[in-house]
Amino acid sequence: MRRALVLVVAIVALIVLVAAVYGFFVEPRRLVVERVRYDMPMWRSPENLRIVVLSDLHLFPMNGDARWGDRIVQTTNSLEPDIILLAGDYVRVGIDSFSSPQAAGEFGTFVSKLKSRCGVFIVSGNHDLTYGWRYLADAAESAGAVSLDNTSRLIRIHDQDVQIVGVPECELGEIDVARAFSNVDRTLPIIFLTHRGEAVYKCLCTGNIGLTVCGHTHGGQVRIPWSRRIMAPGIASWGYGGFASIGKHDIYVTRGIGGHRLDLRMFCPPEITLLEVTGGKYDEAG
Ligand SMILES: [Fe+2]
Repeated sequence: MRRALVLVVAIVALIVLVAAVYGFFVEPRRLVVERVRYDMPMWRSPENLRIVVLSDLHLFPMNGDARWGDRIVQTTNSLEPDIILLAGDYVRVGIDSFSSPQAAGEFGTFVSKLKSRCGVFIVSGNHDLTYGWRYLADAAESAGAVSLDNTSRLIRIHDQDVQIVGVPECELGEIDVARAFSNVDRTLPIIFLTHRGEAVYKCLCTGNIGLTVCGHTHGGQVRIPWSRRIMAPGIASWGYGGFASIGKHDIYVTRGIGGHRLDLRMFCPPEITLLEVTGGKYDEAG
């Protein structure tokens, strides 16, 4: 009886050990490209708009993790994006304020390596706002990115105009809906970039806000079949990865790349999203 008990304990301990090794050291570096398609009736071009989305890097300062950053850059550039959207939370969780300038410098270098036809667009995440968003935004803009908190840009690609609108993270930042959408033409395609999907509730009062792209929830980060999430931030029932709807409004939530508090992932690998915009209703591109 005692030998059986020892055997059971040993087996459970082994399973926990294997799971811990996998969760801490294997899956957090299992970078997956999610290829999804969204049919947007206002998109008239016969060519697809290729958008690469990166969120929740939680990478800066890098602390010796430069190879991981380079892998993210190389994978992003290999997808030949028309535009690159960065949906916030670039810094590591819990960095001290003295690390902010270093984090910003490394973030700027990271952004400068990203290649796309029409630019890199960024918004703030809650951790960026906590640890020095101004440093990060300045560094990214010096590297050629466009900071979109409460503003928009009109770009033309594949003979089609498209607008990209951004707002800051909605709990620590101040969303100015009127300002963000002041130059937006509702007859043209709109991509709405925000860190947290909850920003949609604050912005829908202004009318059509287009397709929302966001992160923040880390997709649940640790997923177990009978549990929707274990340790990720975010409370929304729609917020665990992939397409969802808020009323009639479409939203894409990426699982993001980094970790919340712990760099631990289980059945929820880091995601780089290749979002192809075409004309019609969305489906998984496979
Ligand atoms: Fe995050």
